[in-house]
Amino acid sequence: PPPPPFTPTGPPIATGKPKTLGGVYSTPQIPNFTAYWNQVVPENAGKWGSVEATRDVMNWTELDAAYKLAKDNGYPFRFHVLVWGNQQPSWIENLPPAEQLEEIKEWFAAVAQRYPAIDFLEVVNEPTNDPPSQPGSGGGNYINALGGNGSTGWDWILTSFRLAREYFPKTTKLMLNDYNVETNNANSQRYLTIVNLLRAENLIDAIGMQGHAFSTRFASADALRANLNVFAATGLPIYITEFDIDGATDEIQLQEYQRVFPIFWEHPAVKGVTLWGYRPGHWRTAQGAFIAYENGAERPALVWLRNYVQNASLLAITSFN
Ligand code: XIL
Repeated sequence: PPPPPFTPTGPPIATGKPKTLGGVYSTPQIPNFTAYWNQVVPENAGKWGSVEATRDVMNWTELDAAYKLAKDNGYPFRFHVLVWGNQQPSWIENLPPAEQLEEIKEWFAAVAQRYPAIDFLEVVNEPTNDPPSQPGSGGGNYINALGGNGSTGWDWILTSFRLAREYFPKTTKLMLNDYNVETNNANSQRYLTIVNLLRAENLIDAIGMQGHAFSTRFASADALRANLNVFAATGLPIYITEFDIDGATDEIQLQEYQRVFPIFWEHPAVKGVTLWGYRPGHWRTAQGAFIAYENGAERPALVWLRNYVQNASLLAITSFN
């Protein structure tokens, strides 16, 4: 049966706050998105494979809606994502590198033309985890078209950001985004190397950290703060871009949200947090076995429960703004 009508009762997001609290955007959208979030990011609609599954046939429908929602409300719009080794069009893999580069440029230009006021642009997603060098699984194989690893080890990223600077207006803030970089480890160290290479050419304006699966990834509050401090020392703002928690029980979920969310939110360099799922049907809740249903039991991991009733305890956390 369809969910009952949804009536929000929680505290509304105050406008004009210096930090953004974002919700991932995908259809079907909850009513009154704007009662809770003051920043918008499309969940899947902005991935190259979503927009251009067939070469030169562009599907902008859901992306247009997300962009309009942001602009109509004066909210920052974050575009996710130009270059990534996942959810790419399969046709790109059969082209020679020179032609791939032409297609990449066309893709950048098409996005820039259609959305002239993107506030935050994720130029490269998951560089330390999923570079575009994995043909056959929607991953794409166009890393060499962008210069491969090259002498810096990360030339393809530098090329991507140079192109983004060229194609997008100066008011668009260019970002990296990755997961498992929130605490100090081999990935976070490689991530910092990439950030510094980009900084040397003034190609990066913000650092994205996804913040997925925090009950398993979380070490300690001090360890998390210490690593945030390392990235904050670059002088760049940090955005937690895809926050979610994968605790085993309702109690753990609540406890982990309360433990982790404030550490991110209250860090001076963290300028925003986006929840990558706040109601059934999003990431993780869409994947039956992950959060929403495990061992047959519902896990109200998010701000809304499966029947669209608010989880009041979790919603209270969003009133940190
Ligand atoms: C996820 C979406 O939420 C799912 O709907 C889709 O099936 C797979 O991708 N890191 C990212 C996001 O950068 O794009 C991913 O989104 C989640 C992991």
